[in-house]
Amino acid sequence: DLFQPERPNSMGFDLGHAPTLAAIDAARAPWKSHSWAAAPLLAKAPATATTTDEPVRNPADLTTVGQVQTAGEAEIDAALSAATPWEAGAETRAEILNRAADLYEEHYGELFALLTREAGKTLPDCVAELREAVDFLRYYAARIPAEPPVGVFTCISPWNFPLAIFSGQIAAALAVGNAVLAKPAEQTPLIAHRAISLLHEAGVPRSALQLLPGGGAVGGALTSDARVGGVAFTGSTATALKIRAAMAEHLRPGAPLIAETGGLNAMIVDSTALPEQAVQSVIESAFQSAGQRCSALRCLYLQDDIADNVLKMLKGAMDALRLGDPWILSTDSGPVIDEAARGGILAHIDAARAEGRVLKEMTAPQGGTFVAPTLIEIPGIQALEQEIFGPVLHVVRFKSQDLDQIISDINATGYGLTFGLHTRIDDRVQYICDRIHAGNLYVNRNQIGAIVGSQPFGGEGLSGTGPKAGGPFYMTRFCAPDRQQMAE
Ligand code: NAD
Ligand code: ALA
Repeated sequence: DLFQPERPNSMGFDLGHAPTLAAIDAARAPWKSHSWAAAPLLAKAPATATTTDEPVRNPADLTTVGQVQTAGEAEIDAALSAATPWEAGAETRAEILNRAADLYEEHYGELFALLTREAGKTLPDCVAELREAVDFLRYYAARIPAEPPVGVFTCISPWNFPLAIFSGQIAAALAVGNAVLAKPAEQTPLIAHRAISLLHEAGVPRSALQLLPGGGAVGGALTSDARVGGVAFTGSTATALKIRAAMAEHLRPGAPLIAETGGLNAMIVDSTALPEQAVQSVIESAFQSAGQRCSALRCLYLQDDIADNVLKMLKGAMDALRLGDPWILSTDSGPVIDEAARGGILAHIDAARAEGRVLKEMTAPQGGTFVAPTLIEIPGIQALEQEIFGPVLHVVRFKSQDLDQIISDINATGYGLTFGLHTRIDDRVQYICDRIHAGNLYVNRNQIGAIVGSQPFGGEGLSGTGPKAGGPFYMTRFCAPDRQQMAE
């Protein structure tokens, strides 16, 4: 069965078990005040460095977590010149990627501390993120295709999954035998540096895996050089479109672009849904990770005859969320990634408040870049012009006769990442799921946290190119077409 991983997924940690929690706390403790340093990790350093130094801040309290040396022109050119596809056989590559997965698990205390202090992740998010990273490494190692590598792959990742998505793209490209130029998000270079160090320690050669910390300028240079054979990108739809244009101009025709992008994700809750189950799913989908998941719920459709009741329960559940420093084990929702992100989200809330559409606001913790979970009423998803990447949930009331119009409005956004449905009518599940355009559809549960191997993740339309990450076809795009097959 293609969808069953050949080895089980990582066990993760049982956070309901007090001794496990105590062990995690002890493993993180040495890293509570540690200061990390990140720099380009190159096969051959340039004669004269062109890096620039910048501090990296903790979004929960704005203290400095470490320093990063951003790659300049000389480092980018040195990396492009030295990049060499990984020549070891598939069995050796798989062994080394599995060893890297083991190293990630061994170093969980430091990685959790980094994820919390650099990216604002709560403990449950740290556990899920490490597990996903480890699962990607092992899943791709277990199913290496026979086709040859493309050559040099640029892998560009976002800050919201700075270990899992960063490692997943790299693992797939490396498993096939490509040389990888890894460009992490500018907000999370320290985690990236630690992950690449562990991959090198596991045995990936430096010529096959180099790290280039930096922002859009570094990403731009690494997607517009003819020495690059393909690009794996996860981030916003706007950046994916820029990358596609740069590749069309500078890379060979047909160079693969694997882009996993944003979403305007909806959930429909009809009047037959179990209210407690629906509310729990909404809280997790909209507010876990402070709403900073591409999969997060942005627009909740509530059938009118249950809307008041569900909204009352939802507001109560929001009041029970513990907001604050994600280092504290009981915190449910931490900060958003930086001041720019907070400013954009608050501007959206301010505009809704001015129109009298805010249904619930809470007080945000002080000291970091926090945004409190917020509910906003809108007439329909078409009122949302773009993805609001934070803990803001939009609510629409609907009547049962509006169902076809709602499906059409959701599809008309052009995005198609996740979709959630709460109903107890089987025919309705079939009817709606047959018509909604989304990569991942979830019924009577939350709509975040896809599991590698069993829930391949990815969207359609403006949400991505496919094939889905953590699925059996993902690695095909990292391969060159088989020359013999082409000739036949
Ligand atoms: P972003 O597009 O701003 O940045 C993503 C990456 O692209 C960063 O590393 C950035 O430095 C780089 N970049 C920026 N400009 C570039 C350019 N011109 N050329 C090359 N690289 C460039 O996105 P973000 O704010 O870091 O991440 C949030 C977005 O990512 C959201 O839209 C979210 O929905 C999306 N996302 C999608 C998935 C998915 O699997 N579909 C997963 C996580 C996040
Ligand atoms: N794979 C991540 C999720 O499903 C983005 O939430």
